[in-house]
Amino acid sequence: MSHCTVLITGGAGFIGSHLVRRFVRRYPDYKILNLDCLTYAGNLANLADIETAPNYRFIKGDVSDADFIGKLFKEQAIDAVIHLAAESHVDRSILGPMAFFETNIVGTGVLLQSARKAWEGQLENKRFYHVSTDEVYGSLGETGLFTEKTPYDPRSPYSASKASSDHIVRAYYHTYGMPVVITNCSNNYGSHQFPEKLLPLFIRNIKHKRPLPVYGDGNYTRDWLWVEDHARAIDVVFHRGVNGETYNIGGHNEWKNIDLIKMLCSIMDRKLDRAENASAQLITYVKDRPGHDKRYAIDASKIQRELGWKPSVTFEEGLEVTIDWYLKNEAWLENVTSGSYQRYYDEQYKERNAAKN
Ligand code: NAD
Ligand code: DAU
Repeated sequence: MSHCTVLITGGAGFIGSHLVRRFVRRYPDYKILNLDCLTYAGNLANLADIETAPNYRFIKGDVSDADFIGKLFKEQAIDAVIHLAAESHVDRSILGPMAFFETNIVGTGVLLQSARKAWEGQLENKRFYHVSTDEVYGSLGETGLFTEKTPYDPRSPYSASKASSDHIVRAYYHTYGMPVVITNCSNNYGSHQFPEKLLPLFIRNIKHKRPLPVYGDGNYTRDWLWVEDHARAIDVVFHRGVNGETYNIGGHNEWKNIDLIKMLCSIMDRKLDRAENASAQLITYVKDRPGHDKRYAIDASKIQRELGWKPSVTFEEGLEVTIDWYLKNEAWLENVTSGSYQRYYDEQYKERNAAKN
C-alpha cells in the first residue's frame, strides 16, 4: 500500500495517538488523516511532536455525524480506515450509556456506510479496520482464554456497544463484501492514558497520597499489554491481516487487580523515596462496579502464528517506563484533570465510598 490515504479515527486519544505517531513516522508516503471530535479523552497535546509533519492532518469531527463523514469521503480519496474513536470507559458507560450507543454503534455504522458508498465498485486495495476489545467476550472463570471463536457475551453498556459495532462490521463484510478486519485487544497501559483508568489514576493518587479506590475485593483479573505493542499489532494486521478475519491481541500477562496495585505501590515507594509499604496504606476498598467482569485473558496464538506478532517488552519494563512518564509529565496530567474531570471524579467515587460506609 504505497501513497495511500489512511483515515484514523480517535487519533487524539490514548491508543489512537500512539498509532497515529507510529504511522506518521514509519510511512512518510502515506497521508494520515486523524479524525477526532476531541471529547474529554481526546487531547491534541498527545501529538504535539508530529503535528507539523507533512504527511499528517488533523480533522475535527464526529464519527456519528453522517453528513460530515459523507462529505469527508467525497473530499478526500480515502483508501483505508482504522477506526478507534469510541467512548471507552466502562464506569462512564454505567453512569450514562447513551453516548456509548451513539458513538460506538451509530458512529461505526456511519463510517461503514460512507466508506461503502465512496468505495462502490472499487473495493480492491481498500480496508476498513475496526479496533475492538476483549470485553465483547464477557467474563471468564478461573481458567480458559478468549479465542476468536468465543461466543459474544457483553455485560456492560460499553462492551455491549462494542459488541454491536463488531457485529455491524461483520455484517458489512458478509452482505456487501466490504474489506474489513477486526482486532479484539486486552487492557492497554502506557503513556497518555486518561487518568480515569486504573493505572494512570492510581499512579496519580499515589503521587498525591490520595486513597486508592479498589473495587470489591480486588480479585478481578485483567491481561495487560503495552500500548506500543498494541499499535505495532494494528500495523501488522492493517498491512497483512486477511479480510473478514478477526485477530485477538493480548499480553499473556494476567494480574489480579490487588496484586498489580500492590506491585505499583512498591515500585512507586522506591521511585518517590518513600518508606517500604507507605503507599499500600492508601488502598481503600470501595463499592464494586455493577456487573464487574471477573476475568479477561486473551489467547493471542492466531496473530502470533499467522502474522508473527508477539509482545516486545515485559510488564516490568513497560510499567517502569509508564510510571516514569506520568511522574515526569505532571503538566499533562494537571491539564487533563481540571474542570469536567473533577466533576466526574467526585460523582464516581463519592457515591462508591458512601455506599461502602
Ligand atoms: P480513549 O477514550 O483514550 O480515546 C478515544 C478517542 O476517541 C478520543 O480522542 C475521543 O476524543 C475520540 N472520540 C470519542 N467519541 C468520538 C466521536 N463521536 N467522534 C470522533 N471522535 C471521538 O480510548 P482508547 O483507550 O484509546 O481506546 C481506543 C479504541 O480502542 C476504542 O475503540 C476502544 O474500545 C479500543 N480498546 C481500548 C483498550 C484499552 O485498554 N484502552 C483495549 C482494547 C480496545
Ligand atoms: O479489556 C479491554 C478494556 O480495558 C478496554 O476495552 C476499555 O476501553 C478499557 O477501559 C479497559 O476496561 P477495564 O474496565 O478493564 O479498565 P479499568 O482501567 O477501568 O479497570 C481495570 C480494573 O480495575 C477493573 O477490574 C476495574 C478495576 N478498578 C478500576 C478503577 C478505575 C478499580 O478497582 N478501581 C478503579 O478506580
